[in-house]
Amino acid sequence: MANTAILTRNFEKRNSHTLGVYESLGGYKALKKAIVEMKPEEIVEEVTKSGLRGRGGAGFPTGKKWSFIPKESPKPKYLTVNADEGEPGTFKDRPLMEQDPHAVIEGSIITSYAVGIHSAFIYVRGEYVKSIRRLQDAINEAYAGKYLGKNILGSGFDLDMVVHRGAGAYICGEETGLLESLEGKKGQPRMKPPFPAIVGAFQGPTVINNVETMAAIPHIVNNGGEWFNNLGAPDVGGGVKLYPISGHVNKPGVYELPLGTTLREIIYEHAGGIRGGKKLKAVIPGGSSAPVLKADEIDVKMDYDSLAAIKTMLGSGAIIVMDEDTNMVKALKVLLKFYAHESCGKCTPCREGTGWMARIITRIDGGEGELSDLDTLLSIAENIRGNTLCPLGEAAIGPAISFVTKFRNEFEDYIQKV
Ligand SMILES: Cc1cc2nc3c(=O)[nH]c(=O)nc-3n(C[C@H](O)[C@H](O)[C@H](O)COP(=O)(O)O)c2cc1C
Ligand code: SF4
Repeated sequence: MANTAILTRNFEKRNSHTLGVYESLGGYKALKKAIVEMKPEEIVEEVTKSGLRGRGGAGFPTGKKWSFIPKESPKPKYLTVNADEGEPGTFKDRPLMEQDPHAVIEGSIITSYAVGIHSAFIYVRGEYVKSIRRLQDAINEAYAGKYLGKNILGSGFDLDMVVHRGAGAYICGEETGLLESLEGKKGQPRMKPPFPAIVGAFQGPTVINNVETMAAIPHIVNNGGEWFNNLGAPDVGGGVKLYPISGHVNKPGVYELPLGTTLREIIYEHAGGIRGGKKLKAVIPGGSSAPVLKADEIDVKMDYDSLAAIKTMLGSGAIIVMDEDTNMVKALKVLLKFYAHESCGKCTPCREGTGWMARIITRIDGGEGELSDLDTLLSIAENIRGNTLCPLGEAAIGPAISFVTKFRNEFEDYIQKV
């Protein structure tokens, strides 16, 4: 399938991050249309029709999420744009914020109008200094251009928008950990229910959406939900998706393609195939939490349902490619150490389990492993499953179980030979 430039259409344009250039390329037309011609509920309906599902990882239908927000609320309602982007392999929101910040802002203003929100936050991971600067400059321009603030474009609708810097914790990308952090507390997830749509930031109903989700909104308003839905692969729909691809490919980068493009096509046709003419060994298809696929599983369509059907997930859509020379023990060690480091420690199975898994894989890598360690690893993972407060625990076991079960021979050889 051809590369489709919708979300990335402005990336190559000079000074695409500035208001003047954004407007000259049709920017803020969607906001004008939304505010002048559309009722809030019509926008929610178009977004529902578009088949857009959240691009942050969980893939929840965006229009449906918005419809959960109570129309009347004694507490203020909030929008929080999730720009924490901490998942290993995921680097798709960053170019949107750096090269097209006004698209993210425009989508966020339309979302706020559709849901009746007057305060919006963009929670950006602290390491993304350029993104933060570009967003802040763009917000300042948007205030000056009357796209933000009081009485936006003379419509009577008010919205304030604030950039909030995170401090580099993966768990602050989890929506309730993010809310705690935004409120100035330790970034640890909350019990759900209540869900953020009912009790979110500062106890008010809150929409939390990913940067890429927000950037799609102006296109849906401009061209209609059906148009966006039809951009997805046949029988898949759901629009276009940014696929960041890294690892042993010739052309790593961010590719915008129809949702449901096959993994084989992304690796071989868009990312130029495996580096140095090597063979493919394994692929993580949706950020580090997604169970790994073997080389013979890459004819799968890269969409939510097709990947779930083969027991992995689309997640953030981030693809990590490993060639035939990859040592799977070392690769798993990197992942498990990451999860042990990032576990917030609030619940025991994740706090202890991720630590134990990291210690076992480190021992195996160091040549001190025993064959029984592999079953111990699997057993710890199974005991984390379903017993944690937030999905980070589940995210850690995806790689552990899939690496050990799909590449068990390699793990056993390593233990016996090293
Ligand atoms: C450990 C963890 C980290 C996450 N990190 C992010 C992130 O960096 N960015 C993001 O948009 N969603 C992240 N999510 C998903 C969010 O909890 C939430 O589902 C998402 O922001 C909702 O937006 P969406 O519906 O537009 O996808 C993370 C989830 C977990 C469990
Ligand atoms: S699952 Fe892990 S990261 Fe999530 S709340 Fe429990 S300890 Fe914290």
